[in-house]
Amino acid sequence: MVLVTTQQELLSQLIPRQKNQKIGFVPTMGALHAGHLSLVSRAISENQKVVVSIFVNPTQFDNKEDLKKYPKTLEADINILSTISKDLVIFAPSVKDMYTKTVATKSYQFNGLDKVMEGAFRDDHFNGVGTIVEALLNLVQPDRAYFGEKDFQQLQIIKKMVELHKIPVEIIGCPIVRESSGLAMSSRNERLSKLVRKEASFIYKILEQAKVKFGTNSAKYVKDWVTAQFQTNAYLKLEYFEIADVRTLKSIDKKIKNKKYRAFIAVYADGIRLIDNIALN
Ligand code: PAJ
Repeated sequence: MVLVTTQQELLSQLIPRQKNQKIGFVPTMGALHAGHLSLVSRAISENQKVVVSIFVNPTQFDNKEDLKKYPKTLEADINILSTISKDLVIFAPSVKDMYTKTVATKSYQFNGLDKVMEGAFRDDHFNGVGTIVEALLNLVQPDRAYFGEKDFQQLQIIKKMVELHKIPVEIIGCPIVRESSGLAMSSRNERLSKLVRKEASFIYKILEQAKVKFGTNSAKYVKDWVTAQFQTNAYLKLEYFEIADVRTLKSIDKKIKNKKYRAFIAVYADGIRLIDNIALN
């Protein structure tokens, strides 16, 4: 296991590049859980060298308080990574090292993928994500980079960025890992009280039921039904529920044959924002 904390040190681990050696890359913000580890395990199984970055990226937080409270557990993260492989490169830079002059966000064109759902509710979020992911991809120059479907919109946006900017990397989406209650694993779950964490399993239960209802009902019917379910829940506040085309991420009113749809949800629990999604067909 090698821990590097500057871009310079990272490059000294990656250069010279060995012939036929595939590099896998897993970008994270740390506070690692089994969801992150599933990405790392997949990267290990498909590449000869794997780089995991741990960097809480300030430019993707629209909420200063959320950034301040984001868990930072580097030592535990290193320990947990060493249980899956002793052979990883962990890159944990400082903000100063990653954003050499000022902390600035680039502006991207993501063909509207960034204007809906997370993009509509979190100002400039995806420009921040694009800025850091592009910088990391340029630095690591991996053959494959791994992202979770937990952040499905982010995954689609990264795929679009790589296509538009012609970045030579394969972006691989990995399935959502859940707690035994069904709640999607998230670093933010640690901030929930025991009671609310239990109640939050309601989110996935509703998504599963929405999927069944979508089989025989319209998108509007399902959306209204989900909204009504949350109105009676004292612990959870629904921010949005959308049924969207997986390619365009545009919400739909009417289903079209042969198109793939997904339901997306954002909920406040104990003032903490949780997101989830489910494939509908
Ligand atoms: P972070 O929230 O730490 O997530 C890192 C990666 O782990 C993302 O690709 C995310 O989708 C994936 N992930 C998180 N929870 C998961 C789960 N329950 N199941 C499967 N995958 C899961 O996403 C980010 O960081 C940042 O935006 C980043 C891409 C690192 C850029 O700063």
